Amino acid sequence: FESGALAGVSVVITAGPTREAIDPVRYITNHSSGKMGYALAEAARDAGARVTLISGPVTLDAPDRIKVVRVNSAMDMLQAAESELEHCEIFIASAAVADYRPAEVADQKVKKSADEMSIQLVKNPDIVATVAAHTPHPFTVGFAAETQDVEHYARGKLARKNLDMIVANDVSRSDIGFNSDNNAVNVYWPEGQCQFDVMNKQILARELIGLVADHFRPD
Ligand code: C5P
Repeated sequence: FESGALAGVSVVITAGPTREAIDPVRYITNHSSGKMGYALAEAARDAGARVTLISGPVTLDAPDRIKVVRVNSAMDMLQAAESELEHCEIFIASAAVADYRPAEVADQKVKKSADEMSIQLVKNPDIVATVAAHTPHPFTVGFAAETQDVEHYARGKLARKNLDMIVANDVSRSDIGFNSDNNAVNVYWPEGQCQFDVMNKQILARELIGLVADHFRPD
């Protein structure tokens, strides 16, 4: 991106997994490392943006000159996102939000007894769709991890969630994506698309921020 491509623009980015409590000592989560979201936050900062990173539990250090809001659950991430919305001009949802959470969180550690047990789950709210449903809403970018028919499913999410842009990766490939330092993506927006072959997440993040900046401020 050109230097200052996002000068003074407020950008909010969600990153990492969420952690959904079962009881005081157990939870449900996923393998998201947060690397892509943190790289996007650093790239947006380097493009001149004021960046807030809403981060699920990850092992990455907080980047310099970025406001980091740490959360655990999807419900907390939604609340953090909504409280940042007033000043948010670009919202990028790279978090791997748990689709479901336990219907009830036990107050005490659940004791082992029967040979089988089940946990009732309820659907979590869709954070990026909630943000994009606001009027006015920020320029909103989502991610899509797909294993087949990448364009078809990604464009479906773009429309259904009312996004301005979606970044799709093929998670059936073992060389990229979750936990990897590299990623390869296809990006779709209502009138177009582009493709980035396998590259380091830091470099990809800079390419993506450049693309977002071009669409946020078309000239
Ligand atoms: O529907 P799916 O989970 O594939 O959509 C992925 C996109 O939606 C990502 O941008 C992710 O951050 C976002 N998302 C969200 N809240 C959810 C589920 C997904 O913001 N509860």
